[in-house]
Amino acid sequence: MEVVQEYMQGLYDSGLYPDHYICHQKRGNLVEIEEEATGVRREVLTFCTNDVLGLVQSKAVKQAAIDAILQYGTSNSSCPTLSGRIDLHRQLEREISAFKHLPHTHLFLNAWMAMQALIDGFCHFAAPVRGFHNDRETLIMTDVLNHGCIVSAVVNAGTRSGRVFSHSAKVRVKPYRHCDVGDLARKLRRYAKPGDRIMLVSDAVFSMDGDITPLPEMLDVLENYPGSVIVMDEAHASGALGATGGGIYEHFGIRPQEVQRRGMVPIIMTTFSKFAASAGAAISSHTKELTDLLDVCPTSIGTISLPPPTTAAALEAIRQVRQNPELVQTLQANTRYLRSRFIEHEFEAIGETNVIPVILPEEINPKLFSSQLIEEYGLWVSPIWFIAKPRMRVVANALHTKEDMDRLVAAMVATRNALYRPKTMVAT
Ligand SMILES: Cc1ncc(COP(=O)(O)O)c(C=O)c1O
Repeated sequence: MEVVQEYMQGLYDSGLYPDHYICHQKRGNLVEIEEEATGVRREVLTFCTNDVLGLVQSKAVKQAAIDAILQYGTSNSSCPTLSGRIDLHRQLEREISAFKHLPHTHLFLNAWMAMQALIDGFCHFAAPVRGFHNDRETLIMTDVLNHGCIVSAVVNAGTRSGRVFSHSAKVRVKPYRHCDVGDLARKLRRYAKPGDRIMLVSDAVFSMDGDITPLPEMLDVLENYPGSVIVMDEAHASGALGATGGGIYEHFGIRPQEVQRRGMVPIIMTTFSKFAASAGAAISSHTKELTDLLDVCPTSIGTISLPPPTTAAALEAIRQVRQNPELVQTLQANTRYLRSRFIEHEFEAIGETNVIPVILPEEINPKLFSSQLIEEYGLWVSPIWFIAKPRMRVVANALHTKEDMDRLVAAMVATRNALYRPKTMVAT
């Protein structure tokens, strides 16, 4: 433990450790938070929440969760494969399948587990089957800025269950430059061998940069490798991209069926923690056998199924989104408005989605910027300072009003003026 303590002391001393806030109540975007270090409580207007369609406090969603508790209790007390599967799981799987135009869906507790189960199950077939033997190696192509759940799953890909429990063909993982289709094509030419099972995996919307992966161009490249699997992590795309929130395929006007017709295999990971007012994740595809494989792979068998209230909340939220696409349109309008206001005020607002990263001049400490916004203006924005280039990660949602957004921009301009003098001004 000495090493841990020494390391953590260094982290505290360098100011890298995050400040913690505890939420006491929510009223729309108004949140009462307590600064854990001081116990100071205040009400703030949030631009941090990933509840992008504002459904976490919807009456219908809350009631669905309550009803599920009354019917099933608070937990299913087993994994889905043994005795933990409830009818709400089946309803949620069907709802997602209809929403994503992919007929087979399997649920997980969160994105990390879903991604690990998918990569592990696909690469290694952990339970031995008499007469089955796979010698085909797997080549995984991954964007360098992919989310941690993908990074973690692919770095484990060569060592996970199949390699522990039985013979398993080799897995090679090759990163390509961020959203760089030319680099992807070059690396595929260089590394793909005849007989490889090729899988490309990418965030649909990148969680720190708010940009969108160039799906159509990627498909054009992958088409040269028939049978390739393309996995889209739609954590930030579902409910946010496309006219009805269908995600990246709807955004680009492509149907997953079309990808299949072109000889590739589309797989989508949906998560419920952003647009669907809940927690959990799902893997959807055209292939029943993939769903069944995920059901029996070690990551599924070894853990609890999605609890009843969590499942019910996601199910009701997705139904709400499908019935009320205007929620998505409001989110998109807010996104355009807020980004344009930042640009008007010469902030470097990157990306193109409701995740609006505002890159700060390097002299400004994002943590200080954030605490000024909270203390002086009652505004809550997440500072990012060590998992990506320093920035304020502003997240627009469908409940924000123009007044809320104008208030944020005015406060950020004032805070920038207070904390930063451009070098040219200092010199004169
Ligand atoms: C691209 C991406 N994938 C996965 C996740 C994790 O999702 P969850 O917290 O719903 O499991 C996130 C969360 O921010 C994300 O941005």
